[in-house]
Amino acid sequence: MLDEADTRVHEGRALVACGECEAGRSDSETPLELRQDLGAALASGRTAEIFAWGEGRVIKRFRHWVRPEDVLAEMAHCKTVADLGLPVPKVRGLVELGGALAIVFERIDGGTTVEASAGKPLRYTRLGKGLGELHATLHATPVRETMSLPDQRHRLREKIEQAGSLSESMCLPLVARLDSLPSGDRVCHGDFHPENVLRSTDGRAVIIDWIDATIGDPLADVARTVVLIEGGPLPDRWIDRVRIRRRRSAFLKAYLRTYFRRSGRRRDHLRPWIPVVAAARLSEVEGADAVAVLDYLARVM
Ligand SMILES: Nc1ncnc2c1ncn2[C@@H]1O[C@H](COP(=O)(O)OP(=O)(O)OP(=O)(O)O)[C@@H](O)[C@H]1O
Ligand SMILES: [Mg+2]
Repeated sequence: MLDEADTRVHEGRALVACGECEAGRSDSETPLELRQDLGAALASGRTAEIFAWGEGRVIKRFRHWVRPEDVLAEMAHCKTVADLGLPVPKVRGLVELGGALAIVFERIDGGTTVEASAGKPLRYTRLGKGLGELHATLHATPVRETMSLPDQRHRLREKIEQAGSLSESMCLPLVARLDSLPSGDRVCHGDFHPENVLRSTDGRAVIIDWIDATIGDPLADVARTVVLIEGGPLPDRWIDRVRIRRRRSAFLKAYLRTYFRRSGRRRDHLRPWIPVVAAARLSEVEGADAVAVLDYLARVM
């Protein structure tokens, strides 16, 4: 639920404007959409809630615990990868709403890839194949010398060291293992999963949520996808567990087969990344999600 301060957005201020956005307006000229109530969220993720925002746009309002520098990073990363010709939503600006930062994005109307494939036979196999192809295409994109994205190794180390549920006796060997893995020179998304790939109404795939984008080894990026799927919590009822395990396995089998076929990379180079990336994931989760990742880490160490 949204509280009063959050839903009344007449105090919204355009902080940064891009393209057709409202550059440099004063509060008295606050554009119409900044004075609307937000209404119900269209969707909700770990770091933000998404609301409709005028014609053809959404607003991604970050949760209060997200650091402003990370919001600015997501915006900058999204523009950087758009310049490389990657399929991402256009960034329309940055505003402040009820004390929280929010990015205005082009609205992508066809839903997530999971929703778009709902009800289709072989749904998870198709989904895996589509994401495997898209991920290989992303990693094949030539990088420009002048572009600026964080270093993957640095980011992963930071996350492993921040993972509160990781004991020191586990943390140190994992950081050492990270240091022994290749650096890589490719654009990596950092959180590539089916809900971060949307479909436009004309059927194109659009990749969102670039907050964790880095330059690094593509197989660390593939490991992240594997960890998210295999290390997710399971429901209590055994019948539901069986169903979810089947879905995960169909998705991953198709995703990995397609990715390695398309990219020409070696599948045996993926394995060493898995525990390192699972440990980094621990910095983002708590409760049942953290227990699931810790169990998974114990199995893949
Ligand atoms: N540009 C957009 N157009 C339409 N829907 C969007 C757009 N951006 C995000 N969404 C919807 O909002 C959801 C959450 O967005 P997003 O992934 O950016 O949030 P997040 O909090 O960073 O997510 P995560 O849980 O992956 O960290 C998406 O899965 C999608 O359903
Ligand atoms: Mg997301």
